Amino acid sequence: VYLGDENLTQETRDLLSSLPSEKGWLVSQMYQYEGSWHTKAMLQGIVNCQKHFEAKDSDIILATIPKSGTTWLKALLFALIHQNKFPVSGNHPLLATNPHVPYLEGDYCVSPDVSFSKLPSPRLMQTHLTHHSLPVSIKSSSCKIVYCCRNPKDVFVSLWHFGKKLAPQETADYPIEKAVEAFCQGKFIGGPFWDHVLEYWYESRKNPNKVLFVTYEELKKQTGDMVKRMAEFLGCGFTAEEEVSEIVKLCSFESLSSLEVNRQWKLPNGIETNAFFRKGETGGWRDTLSESLADVIDRTTEEKFGGSGLNY
Ligand code: A3P
Repeated sequence: VYLGDENLTQETRDLLSSLPSEKGWLVSQMYQYEGSWHTKAMLQGIVNCQKHFEAKDSDIILATIPKSGTTWLKALLFALIHQNKFPVSGNHPLLATNPHVPYLEGDYCVSPDVSFSKLPSPRLMQTHLTHHSLPVSIKSSSCKIVYCCRNPKDVFVSLWHFGKKLAPQETADYPIEKAVEAFCQGKFIGGPFWDHVLEYWYESRKNPNKVLFVTYEELKKQTGDMVKRMAEFLGCGFTAEEEVSEIVKLCSFESLSSLEVNRQWKLPNGIETNAFFRKGETGGWRDTLSESLADVIDRTTEEKFGGSGLNY
């Protein structure tokens, strides 16, 4: 949480009083805005971002639902698009600081006057917003969107452990069955999962030059090929085979998670950077979810993704 109630504008207070609200799984209270659930603070950020963010044609927006591989993609995209400015073989900024990618609605929680002018060009920014809630200029400009999706069971499990780390007291006695139910109903911060994914999926099919849809699983299986596909989509020009493998190595779970900056640092919002590195595996849900709970998520996935061409 980035700011207290005293920082909410009157407009946001009025908006909040008109929205459905519920006690959440990971937060004390959340509000449903444009179909998704958010904290009060994030709602202020979203409203500010929708009103004030001006996308440039050259911008690159990384969109995800939390726990889908945002941290990994942030690193890969940053290293890729700035490979001339920051050669991977050199003293790369990813080795010393974290993160390099502003979080649009997160940064706007603090103030409506956010400046992204210091970012190296092309500007790379991340968001957890649904496609329909993106600021208008992202959709109307020629900026590019990279969307990363992950197996919903792994997303749930990653979120389950992240919540335990972030809010140990609040989550200690929370039953996992109830958390799965909240997840399947879409009632968690940033949810619902399936609608979020489907919107970007259909956008990527309608407009493949605007939205590139990738999955955590294909990134794991063939990271180098995916880096090349992203380079092509973003028009990064030729990326030599050697550079691709250096980028892949630099951004690997093993490499990033062992860096001092990702083990010991705290972000300005108080979250420890090591919370973003847990196992980094596909199918890791098996350690945490019983077969019957996995079935509950699978049934929702079949129902929601049925006929879309998306398989999980
Ligand atoms: P697990 O909790 O399953 O390990 P996000 O960045 O969207 O919050 O997602 C976090 C998930 O991505 C965590 O998954 C984390 O371990 C994993 N992750 C972080 N960095 C990674 C990397 N370089 N490669 C692969 N997975 C990574």
